[in-house]
Amino acid sequence: MKTLVVYYSRTQNTKKIAEEIASKLKCSIEELIDLKSRKGIFGYIKGGHEALVKGHTELWDLRHDPSKYDLVIIGTPVWGGMVTPAVRTFIRDNKKKLGKVAFFCTMAGKSDQKTFAGMEKLSKKPIATLAVRSREVKKDLYEEKLEEYIGKIL
Ligand SMILES: Cc1cc2nc3c(=O)[nH]c(=O)nc-3n(C[C@H](O)[C@H](O)[C@H](O)COP(=O)(O)O)c2cc1C
Repeated sequence: MKTLVVYYSRTQNTKKIAEEIASKLKCSIEELIDLKSRKGIFGYIKGGHEALVKGHTELWDLRHDPSKYDLVIIGTPVWGGMVTPAVRTFIRDNKKKLGKVAFFCTMAGKSDQKTFAGMEKLSKKPIATLAVRSREVKKDLYEEKLEEYIGKIL
């Protein structure tokens, strides 16, 4: 199955999981670049607010065409219990180009189910989901559930 991992990451947690998934699946990877600055406290507050009000953003042009892939694995940090504006924008702009989808997220606490439900509403039912806490990312405590996730995808 031709697979693309697409993700957004502000502080590298989601990036780490995305890179590991792509490496295990030996597939292509695309980082979403949000053209709005998300740096510092103002970036945090503004980003959180935009996520809460289901806002969109402007993204840098994609390097990969999602329509060329059988499966697109979409990863986001949880912001305010929701998907990030970058991932919301990617899904809105590429909805018709998506074949099968799988989701993953990283988060400090919970809200993974709410985030995945929101992503499903925007696109379609995922073949698999994976939620990893930031603490687990930092301490490499996610290998077992990552393997399980990969197993569902293959
Ligand atoms: C603006 C903002 C809002 C956040 N809101 C939540 C939240 O509602 N629930 C949660 O568990 N974590 C929340 N977090 C924490 C992030 O989801 C978590 O640190 C994640 O791993 C960051 O991913 P990244 O390093 O790829 O950017 C928030 C972080 C930011 C920056």
